[in-house]
Amino acid sequence: MIYPEYRPRRMRRDENIRAMVRETHLDRSHLIYPLFVCPGKKVREPISSMPGCFQLSVDQAVEEASRIHDLGLPAVILFGLPEKKDARGTHAWIKSGIVQRAISSMKKAVPGLMVVTDVCLCEYTSHGHCGLLSSRGSKESDREVDNDATIELLAKVALSHARAGADMVAPSDMMDGRVGAIRQALDEHDFDQISIMSYAVKYASSFYGPFRDAAECAPQFGDRRAYQMDPANAREAIREATLDMEEGADILMVKPGLPYLDIIHMLRQEFNLPIAAYQVSGEYAMIKAAAGNGWVDEEAVALESLMCLRRAGADIIITYFAKDLAKIL
Ligand code: PBG
Repeated sequence: MIYPEYRPRRMRRDENIRAMVRETHLDRSHLIYPLFVCPGKKVREPISSMPGCFQLSVDQAVEEASRIHDLGLPAVILFGLPEKKDARGTHAWIKSGIVQRAISSMKKAVPGLMVVTDVCLCEYTSHGHCGLLSSRGSKESDREVDNDATIELLAKVALSHARAGADMVAPSDMMDGRVGAIRQALDEHDFDQISIMSYAVKYASSFYGPFRDAAECAPQFGDRRAYQMDPANAREAIREATLDMEEGADILMVKPGLPYLDIIHMLRQEFNLPIAAYQVSGEYAMIKAAAGNGWVDEEAVALESLMCLRRAGADIIITYFAKDLAKIL
């Protein structure tokens, strides 16, 4: 069937028409900016594989938070580099932990900015895995992550963030049952109003490389394939997301972003919960590197990538470009 009177070109003729019929919109209200908080004072340490991003001490992170708020961005997500790592990741949940201090200083200084926290153990464990290792196996490097022991600790981490004043927690560990355990711990302590954005569909991706420099959390042995998803799988994403929804997740996240647009789209079709996409460190680094060489237009490519994430179905986007783009959106 041919519709001779329909000519798409007519609709693309000028910017007024294009804007009127545009199907997807991107503005700063969708964006979350990640911050890496480190020990010390007045520290602003550039992350070499992520130009424009820094490890910031609490005082600097608070100043940054206030600039982010002034730019009209709604939220930050915090990652911590602890003073000390140990086999259990103790510094992930202590009251004087780096993230806990950052949350309370930020909420005091910039109450209007929403503070989301990444809940995971990999930045806090000496072995760099996202959970506690089981006692089975003689060498540490033979041991696997003990799922059930880990989710108890993750619930402690989430609770410590809520006590410090976090608005939302985002478990990124991919242990089974952690959303339910966190929801229960929060509810039992009267934090039923704190929402959970679950990294429901997180792939064992090589695009996390630069982040592991930034957060100093590369696994010391083995990899994360036992708990993160195989990039070859799509249907499994539905199973993962269904479990998280049933356990009480408020927002479902897909990570990484651009290579997984089909997964974002699929979740959008299957679920009525809000969907978040994480444009990860490797995606950011690739655009920065190509733009740094003059091979692509950084701003245009960044904007197009985020628009495509929105078109695929993401309501929320976590991106290292948030600050730069807030200025032009
Ligand atoms: C912690 C965590 C990671 C990222 C977010 N939270 C690293 C990982 O799972 O190895 C990656 C974010 C990025 O690459 O920007 N588990």
